Amino acid sequence: MSFRVLGTGRCLPEKIVRNDELPQTLDTSDEWISQRVGVRERRVCTTETTSELARKAAEAALEMSCVSPKELDMIICATVSPDNISPSAACSVQSTIGASCPSMDINAACSGFLYALETAAGFFARGAKRILVAGAERLTGLIDWNDRGTAVIFGDAAGAMVLGEGDAYLASKLYARGNSTVLNIPNHKGSSPYYLNEPGKPCIHMNGQETFKFAVNAMCTDLAEVAKKAGLEIEDINWIIPHQANARIIDASAKKLGIKPESCLKNIDRTGNTSAASIPVLADELWRSGKLHNGDYVAMCSFGAGLTSAACIIRY
Ligand code: ACO
Repeated sequence: MSFRVLGTGRCLPEKIVRNDELPQTLDTSDEWISQRVGVRERRVCTTETTSELARKAAEAALEMSCVSPKELDMIICATVSPDNISPSAACSVQSTIGASCPSMDINAACSGFLYALETAAGFFARGAKRILVAGAERLTGLIDWNDRGTAVIFGDAAGAMVLGEGDAYLASKLYARGNSTVLNIPNHKGSSPYYLNEPGKPCIHMNGQETFKFAVNAMCTDLAEVAKKAGLEIEDINWIIPHQANARIIDASAKKLGIKPESCLKNIDRTGNTSAASIPVLADELWRSGKLHNGDYVAMCSFGAGLTSAACIIRY
């Protein structure tokens, strides 16, 4: 027993920041960002918190699924930007939606949502009936706003899925290659008088080009692998939902795999890179667009800090 998707939801903060509204100190341009990254605008939190975004996305997914919070057996939230190290974002969601199930966060950076789906599949194998999985990020709080290499890329959002018993999770792959030099976000080190090492700045550090190479390779390898595991050819897949990190990464991978541009979904121009939230947000956009049909094959793939990557195929 694995699962099927009962419903989806998303929540983006209200404030829109277009490229030409970014702080002037960044020394960048709309032209550079649109062409090199594919972002035209992103949503940024002003008063919203990660947990609030996750709660609203969760409520929308529960409403679509006609599932009540008390019916949930588990809440899993993927995030690298929770409001607190503890309690988890998942526990905040649990209390604010009025659920009473076990709840926990998962950190696999941008691959977090797909790691969370795989974790949920394990709980279904042990008898769970309803699981809420969310991806929620407020990355704008982890950015060095003087670093144009990262500040222009990221945005805030949350997406969620309610899963029920079923056999629609056809194939999956998780991958990790521990490396903290290509992409990392140091934690606050506290003020221990005994530490001898200099604390790193608690914001996103990224070697963009190395991440880019890892990403294209991961996307191509992982998608080909899950398609094979599911007994499908790439052209049998109706929709590809790739992590929204850079439009050029998506286009290059799609071209290499021979994916039709119209089946490879993108919203990075409106959202920026929202890490663990990007896949469930796009999945919700697809579902609510009315373009998804019963029996469609949807492939999802992601990559990010860790380094991690993941992919899966779900039948809707
Ligand atoms: N505005 C204007 N110019 C810029 C900017 C900017 N924001 N950023 C860099 N440049 C300049 C550089 O200084 C450089 O100038 P030079 O040629 O005079 O030296 C030039 O543009 C090219 O710089 P590159 O770093 O080579 O630019 P690149 O084309 O690689 O794009 C980018 C950078 C967008 C970061 C790209 O490498 C990328 O998208 N990498 C992948 C990021 C990713 O996938 N992250 C996912 C994981 S996130 C997570 O897990 C939390």
